[in-house]
Amino acid sequence: MPQYFSVFKDESKLDINYVPSRLPHRKLQLNLLEQFFRFAVESPGKMTQRVLILGKIGTGKTVLSQHFGLNAMKEAEKRNINLNYVHVNCRECKGSLFMILQRTILKFHPHFPRRGYSAEELLQALMQILDEENAYLILALDELEALILSEGSDPIYNLTRIQEERLKAPQRLSLICILRQPEYLEKLDPSTRSTLQRNVIHLKEYSKPQLEDILNDRVNLAFRQGTVSTQTMNLVAELAYSEGGNARYSIELLWRAGKYADASEMREVSPECVRKAAVSVYPVVRKDMISFLTLHEKLFLLGVARRFKQTDTAYMSMGEAEDAYAIVCEEYGEERRGHTQLWKYVKELSASGIIETKVSGEGQRGKTTLISLPRVPASDLEQELSRVLMKGGR
Ligand SMILES: Nc1ncnc2c1ncn2[C@@H]1O[C@H](COP(=O)(O)OP(=O)(O)O)[C@@H](O)[C@H]1O
Ligand SMILES: [Mg+2]
Repeated sequence: MPQYFSVFKDESKLDINYVPSRLPHRKLQLNLLEQFFRFAVESPGKMTQRVLILGKIGTGKTVLSQHFGLNAMKEAEKRNINLNYVHVNCRECKGSLFMILQRTILKFHPHFPRRGYSAEELLQALMQILDEENAYLILALDELEALILSEGSDPIYNLTRIQEERLKAPQRLSLICILRQPEYLEKLDPSTRSTLQRNVIHLKEYSKPQLEDILNDRVNLAFRQGTVSTQTMNLVAELAYSEGGNARYSIELLWRAGKYADASEMREVSPECVRKAAVSVYPVVRKDMISFLTLHEKLFLLGVARRFKQTDTAYMSMGEAEDAYAIVCEEYGEERRGHTQLWKYVKELSASGIIETKVSGEGQRGKTTLISLPRVPASDLEQELSRVLMKGGR
């Protein structure tokens, strides 16, 4: 029996916890992080460090920190330094310092008793373990908001203070704080805040070309060759860009689109698969939105939907859209509106988020407006519009 064909060759490369060996467009930030922690491999024990990574969702905070941590451990190992990077998610630990410390200690002593200690005692125990094993620790506190929200500034203060109390002993505990909402800094004590603010790595939202580079790497790792076209990738990047330069969304969308392709036994992830995936992730185009459109907006959109369904491309030119609209008008016995009016429709439809527009790049003859339909499958849109128009919803 032949095996079912799948567009994927290794789905795990799209997993949220996968740490890729390359991080396109984060080289500078990675260098900075390495600079901040250079002492850890050059003169461990002499100092410690506290660094803050700030950035919106999907800007690569978690993956940057983890990538750095893995490299740092390898580098230290070469020099026979017992450096440990431990990454804990404060939200998963329910914002409890106790749970955070417990998880950290379990990395060193998997059989450490789970009961009978306070957070303060666990912190002492952790320092003792580090001393006994002559170990150094970079503790990354991801989604730090959760910890601050439930326990205020005390935990971070205690984590830094315990180090400062050990003036003569080797310095062992460094922190990487990862935060999405900078407002939370104000809830920290002034001295911790000012230390963190001196060592900030700020991650900006990704641009569309940057998202394309990230996606390109993942496509090569996760998909069979030739199953994801450049157009499909562009469409995913465009959607993730409009969701705030969010790489996480882009990878999730790519994965779901692949799932749609497999489910419909296609040998390629088409733009329509992406549109289907986008609806399931963000149902932007609600049905009641369509009923608010004017008759000719509906007719225009119907033309666009039909054309996308027939061609299965990600973009069409304004000219193509106008042609498709003309055919629809004939079918419904309506007189066509002029070019200027159609421009207004395009603007309104894109303002409401149903379609998206961009100006074609260089290399193509002249400049033209390209229309895409990123958030709704063309076939669903066509069906819905036909239904509304039939009901006399003009
Ligand atoms: N520069 C990059 N190169 C490769 N993958 C990236 C990059 N930035 C983010 N990613 C991927 O995008 C997803 C979201 O990144 P993540 O670090 O979880 O974002 P954040 O923690 O800021 O919300 C992850 O799957 C991650 O691997
Ligand atoms: Mg994260």
